[in-house]
Amino acid sequence: MAVYEHDVLVIGGGLAGMRAAIAAQQLGADVAMVSKVHPVRSHSNAAQGGINGPGVGEDGGPWEEHAFETTKASDYLGDQDAITVLAQDGGGEVLQMEHWGVVFSRKPDGRMAVRRFGGMGKARTFFVGAITGQAILHVLYEQLMHPARFKAMRMYEEWFVTSLIVDDGQCRGCVALNIRTGELHAITAKATIVCTGGLGRVYEPSTNALICTGDGIAQAYRVGAPIMDMEMVQIHPTTLKGTGVLITEGARGEGAYLLNKDGERFMQKYAPNMMELASRDVVSRAEQTEIDEGRDVDGCVFLDMRHLGEQLIKERLEEIYEIARDLVNIDIAKELLPILPGVHYIMGGIKTDVDGLTPVPGLYSAGEAACVSVHGANRVGANSLLDTLVFGRRAAEHAVPWLQGKAFRPVPESVVEKDRAMIRGILDRPMNGDRVAKIRRDMGVSMSANVGIFRVPERLNKQVDELKALRARYEKVGVEDKGKVFNTDLLFHIELGYMLDCADMITKSAIERKESRGAHTRLDYPDRNDAEWLKHIVLTKQPDGSEKMSYLPVTITQWQPQERKY
Ligand code: FUM
Repeated sequence: MAVYEHDVLVIGGGLAGMRAAIAAQQLGADVAMVSKVHPVRSHSNAAQGGINGPGVGEDGGPWEEHAFETTKASDYLGDQDAITVLAQDGGGEVLQMEHWGVVFSRKPDGRMAVRRFGGMGKARTFFVGAITGQAILHVLYEQLMHPARFKAMRMYEEWFVTSLIVDDGQCRGCVALNIRTGELHAITAKATIVCTGGLGRVYEPSTNALICTGDGIAQAYRVGAPIMDMEMVQIHPTTLKGTGVLITEGARGEGAYLLNKDGERFMQKYAPNMMELASRDVVSRAEQTEIDEGRDVDGCVFLDMRHLGEQLIKERLEEIYEIARDLVNIDIAKELLPILPGVHYIMGGIKTDVDGLTPVPGLYSAGEAACVSVHGANRVGANSLLDTLVFGRRAAEHAVPWLQGKAFRPVPESVVEKDRAMIRGILDRPMNGDRVAKIRRDMGVSMSANVGIFRVPERLNKQVDELKALRARYEKVGVEDKGKVFNTDLLFHIELGYMLDCADMITKSAIERKESRGAHTRLDYPDRNDAEWLKHIVLTKQPDGSEKMSYLPVTITQWQPQERKY
């Protein structure tokens, strides 16, 4: 077993991870990154519509406006101290990206263009066509790898983390499988920053890449880090029929309408002021209501972009034009696009403070894996990229001074041996007629059916039983590939374990929250109940393996909860 040692280990190669790694490098730390895919294949690539830029010139608007809109969209579950940090630090991050080379779309006068996103009172979202995440991801990678800027960073690329190492009460890195060799190693670090993204594939369908399997959230849970607000699963209003592929909110930001089968702009009934640009939870519920009440065609409503004109579509939404043409053979400049609401983002995750720190010393988290919490019960579109940059940087800026003077502590061989035994157990299991892919699919479909947009106790309780049955199948299922090199069969098996942990946490928290708030709609408790439920639900695994559910108060600084109207 090789043991590697670094000051800072960043797990995850998306935007939060890259931003953290750059900040740690700038502070002179010895930094390493481990990623199960090549970093520029991370899911941040799929972020389309933009990044909010509070405080960036006139268009970005005052930070207070952005903070208030974020708080309101969160249905007052977001912690306002954290939201203030996001809004105050956010503009600087957007400008930093521009200075590092992100080619933001421009107005005719050369200034950065903005579009309006859902839940926002005005256009304040900066963008690169409909490839904003991809553009930023590539620029950050270029910065990170630039030999003239930083000393070479160790990149454990295509290494798969099997567990976090917590020894003597402190996080000391991770155990990871080199996917190319099939060998397990300890990668030790004084500080570990988990930036592994979300868990969208716990549901089917989802806008998320197949790699979004909640790894970091489950790994942190398993070593005793508190996990918060897991019932808050964001449903994006516009995903493509039959594929779940994201159709950016930027399309509505550019003026696209939503129509039902009768050609009615139905958002008039649900959000007469903000219409298609009400917050995501409101628009998704409206669409699902239209579908459930039969004003759909084949389970879909329509996005109408025809009036935007081919020129604007090709200038600002070219990728959407191509997605519709290539995947469903529709010309959005001439035809209606069938869409439906789909799972997109987890607002909950590893509980951290505004510096990314968890209660486990040495363990930090940032980006979608973390719950700071700035998104509360419903995230404003274009705040996810902002969150990755602000809190990725802040986590590194806290971790590097914190680790100064701390010595490496050798980790016992037993931490690797435990994971080796786990892998041996999977490989030795005979095939029993079941398949990992089948269990994963059954989990995703049942989560969508039972813990989806509208939640009722019968279905939530049914999902508890479903998950027990799925876990029993999981514990018996084997893998066909018994080899060492690029054994993706084995990786999918381990990922499914992470997903089942996350599905359990989502379902339990959804049963516990007896009110409707943001993305969590309980038909048996249709109203928000601030008196009893203006609080976070936290799940923590105890040393004896049991689970504790507890609550944390929401931090309110200046915006008292009000009724949310759009
Ligand atoms: O619709 C979108 O472009 C998604 C953006 C986001 O989730 O922030």
